[in-house]
Amino acid sequence: MGEQNKNQNRVHTIESEVRRTAHWWFSKRGPAFLDALVQLGDRSIDIVRPYIQKGQIVADIGCGWGRYAFKLADLVGPAGKVYAIDLAEKCVKKIQQKAKKRGIMHIEAHVSSASNLDLLKNGSIDFVFANGLLCSMAIEREEAISEIKRILKPKGFAYLSLGATPPMGYVDESEWNAILEGFRLEQGGAFKEKWALVSLS
Ligand SMILES: C[S@@+](CC[C@H](N)C(=O)[O-])C[C@H]1O[C@@H](n2cnc3c(N)ncnc32)[C@H](O)[C@@H]1O
Repeated sequence: MGEQNKNQNRVHTIESEVRRTAHWWFSKRGPAFLDALVQLGDRSIDIVRPYIQKGQIVADIGCGWGRYAFKLADLVGPAGKVYAIDLAEKCVKKIQQKAKKRGIMHIEAHVSSASNLDLLKNGSIDFVFANGLLCSMAIEREEAISEIKRILKPKGFAYLSLGATPPMGYVDESEWNAILEGFRLEQGGAFKEKWALVSLS
């Protein structure tokens, strides 16, 4: 096989992997009551609440259907802003429609990969919320972590969580620990608990 064909195949594999990731089980939305079930016992908003102030700028990366983007928008209030970002266009459109219907002007939803957040400036975000993102990224997780570090303000915080661990999710314990070593750990961090509140070290 020629070098050009090999490269084309590689690009094709990466593209289909990205598509597969973005349309993971989450984007095949089940009945609405499943969302409510998932939220039972969900502590993530309680964990992040003390770190988010009115008027701040939050990026909800891998926001899915916006389960948290709207709660985060309540926390920052209309003087703040929430960037809701996902690779799945369906999810982003839904959030845009919902925000418009509810008259919420401070949620800005975008289709983008977490591994390339050019739409966000260096050091511009007070809080990154990445719930279940890294575990659902088949590729480019390192790039996503670099982007999170790039966009965070020097005194910003990030909430990272794994919705699923292998074989359902892509991040294993050693990768999780390596990710956390690149930050200052504020809270959480145990692999079995699957979440960490971190800041830039
Ligand atoms: C498990 S869901 C979590 C959704 C949401 N954060 C929540 O907790 O309800 C993972 C989300 O990450 C998105 N995703 C996967 N790979 C991504 C990537 N490279 N960039 C941005 N979003 C991605 C998927 O489309 C999906 O919506």
